[in-house]
Amino acid sequence: MVLKDTHILLGVTGGIAAYKSVELLRLLKKAGANVHVAMTDAAMHFVGKTTFEVLSENPVLTDLWKDTQSSVTHIDIATSVDVALIAPASANFIGKLAQGIADDALLTTMLAVTSPIMVCPSMNTDMYQNIRVQRNLDILEEDGVHIIDPDDGVLACKTVGTGRLPEPWFLVDRLVALLTQKDLKGRRVIVTAGPTVEAIDPVRFVSNYSSGKMGYAIAQAAEKRGASVTLISGPVSLDPPVGVECIRVESCDEMAQAAISCLDAADIIIKVAAVADYRPMDIAALKIKKHQDSKELSISMTENIDILKRIGELKTKKQFLVGFAAETNDLEKHALAKMKRKNLDMIAANLVGSHESGFKADTNKVKFFFKDGGSKDVPLMDKHKLAHILLDTIIEQTG
Ligand code: CTP
Repeated sequence: MVLKDTHILLGVTGGIAAYKSVELLRLLKKAGANVHVAMTDAAMHFVGKTTFEVLSENPVLTDLWKDTQSSVTHIDIATSVDVALIAPASANFIGKLAQGIADDALLTTMLAVTSPIMVCPSMNTDMYQNIRVQRNLDILEEDGVHIIDPDDGVLACKTVGTGRLPEPWFLVDRLVALLTQKDLKGRRVIVTAGPTVEAIDPVRFVSNYSSGKMGYAIAQAAEKRGASVTLISGPVSLDPPVGVECIRVESCDEMAQAAISCLDAADIIIKVAAVADYRPMDIAALKIKKHQDSKELSISMTENIDILKRIGELKTKKQFLVGFAAETNDLEKHALAKMKRKNLDMIAANLVGSHESGFKADTNKVKFFFKDGGSKDVPLMDKHKLAHILLDTIIEQTG
């Protein structure tokens, strides 16, 4: 969403990681961006210009003199882009950019860029840790350039250490974060997500189909909008969003403990988790064996704590509490009753049971209800888009 129709300058400098810039370009294009690539001479030793030209659907800037036939000059590019992303950034490029040197097409273009700049260093560990390279990175950071730290791992030179260019998806994620308006800056958000798992014996449990997608999308969107986010998650197959503190839990009791211990510092609490209302009364110490003499098995269940209700009792007036209600019928009636019973400021209610809305789907259709009696219908949409609409709504409600 954020990258759609954005103009990006992708600078590629000399380093073996230049091969990753091809995938990076592909992801940026897939997200709807218009990308202008500028390459240094050294970069062209690693990857061909044609690859970038074909994938970007734009001429590639490599030489200020040879490329002058192009109707688009380096100044046009510099002044029209919304962001400049340099990946990989070599030690040579970093040093020259820090000093304002403009002795090739990319560096000359960079001097005219007024939009945000993201630099992704990648090189051998000793080079990266060299005091002169670090000093140049410090200068860039002080100048307001966003530096993405390289990853640790085995490098092309067989060294094990810091210097790898992070994966293209990660760079895109950070670019989106850089371009997203920080309207939640200074706010602390807690999100609970996924199912809880209640043990029956050492190998079995009671749970539900929650995929965690909605809660993870909210945590990810809040982080990008500048919030400090803690995600308390039951077992799901999703990776935690970048920049989000993730506390993994299994049972309702563990989720309750984690949520209540983070509560004091929170400004906004969003409880998306599908918490099991009951758990087996006793957890068998050994695997329950198949009964040879009976076809039936009963498991006695006992009620779990209602975490949301407890938080509703504990919360201060300044804290904004949002619940979710998954219903199969009488949506409004059940949602309003839950909002009142649990002392919520807002509830997002959705009808579950269809393919396009609910636990496993990538899309969701909800209706928001507010404590003051208002409501807002949100049409069927992707859970990531819905996450932003939910956050917009919370910002409207909290002022
Ligand atoms: N919830 C909770 N702790 C529980 C059960 C639910 O915190 N033990 C929270 C969920 O995270 C959600 C909201 O309460 O935000 C509503 O959950 P839902 O399962 O729809 O409602 P219940 O209160 O469990 O009522 P019912 O199952 O009867 O619909």
